Amino acid sequence: MLMGRTLLITGGSGFLGAALVELARTQGWDVVATYHTHMPQTAGVRWEALDLRDRAATRALIERYAPDVVIHTAYRQEEPDMTAITAHGAGAVAQGAYAAQSRLIHLSSDVVFDGERSGSYTETDAPCPVTAYGAAKAAAERLVADAHPAALIVRTSLIYGGPEHPGRHERFVLDVIDGRAEAVFFTDELRCPIAVGDLAAALLELAEQDRSGILHVAGPDVVSRYEFARLIAGAFGRDPARVRGGPSPAAPRRPRNCALDSRVAQGMLTTRIRGVRDVLG
Ligand SMILES: NC(=O)c1ccc[n+]([C@@H]2O[C@H](COP(=O)([O-])OP(=O)(O)OC[C@H]3O[C@@H](n4cnc5c(N)ncnc54)[C@H](OP(=O)(O)O)[C@@H]3O)[C@@H](O)[C@H]2O)c1
Repeated sequence: MLMGRTLLITGGSGFLGAALVELARTQGWDVVATYHTHMPQTAGVRWEALDLRDRAATRALIERYAPDVVIHTAYRQEEPDMTAITAHGAGAVAQGAYAAQSRLIHLSSDVVFDGERSGSYTETDAPCPVTAYGAAKAAAERLVADAHPAALIVRTSLIYGGPEHPGRHERFVLDVIDGRAEAVFFTDELRCPIAVGDLAAALLELAEQDRSGILHVAGPDVVSRYEFARLIAGAFGRDPARVRGGPSPAAPRRPRNCALDSRVAQGMLTTRIRGVRDVLG
């Protein structure tokens, strides 16, 4: 048990953040978690409102708690204010964590890459984003590393929860299959989905290590968005044949093969990161 050790989770009201909050409590962390628009009712957690656009308040919150560890999951994937929240907000978190001498784990994404390669990206590959969101996450990585050189930057891939904890990827596939939305799932966009519980467990294991720099933590199975949608359909009792697949359009440009090579993390962690075919198949 981690008596008296404090973990501050930004984005505790989000999908990954909520899984982290739950698991960290069971592991004995004193948990402080932030929300932006809605405060969860999880007991035994100190909830703090946070708006990452207010950089001074962001730094002050972290310095006030001076937690042993900060895990920064909060972000925004679209406008308005995506760069202010996702990039500069991450920089403010890193400044606060550095001033408070807190260990920092920052969540990043596979879309910092352009997706043009055949094979998987390793930690030494340079970011080369092709979307505004990818650029914001790549900028966040730079700002975090500059402000807190000992930070650990964890790049991950599509996060899902399966039938017990469906996330937005599952909800979207079900909306399409059940006729509430329309979509073609791309056969040429490759990702390494990771179960939210596996990622939370890996992050909490990393919280107690002192590794810094970049680490890829994603699932071992490389699947297309089409295969991922079919796996979700089957796991939720729908007919996978109802998922329509096709190639991604030439424009606007999208990162196609963002497969992450996570062998370094797999070698360091006792947490087993399961493949999506094992979890949902
Ligand atoms: N989901 C994926 O498939 C995926 C893939 C690759 C990487 N990632 C990375 O994993 C991390 C977590 O993703 P997620 O899907 O768990 O996120 P999420 O469910 O969308 O949650 C986002 C969190 O950010 C908070 N937030 C939004 N705007 C904010 C602001 N202005 N100030 C402070 N907090 C704000 C939200 O608070 P409220 O809900 O209270 O408004 C929420 O807690 C992100 O860093 C993301 O880049 C995710």
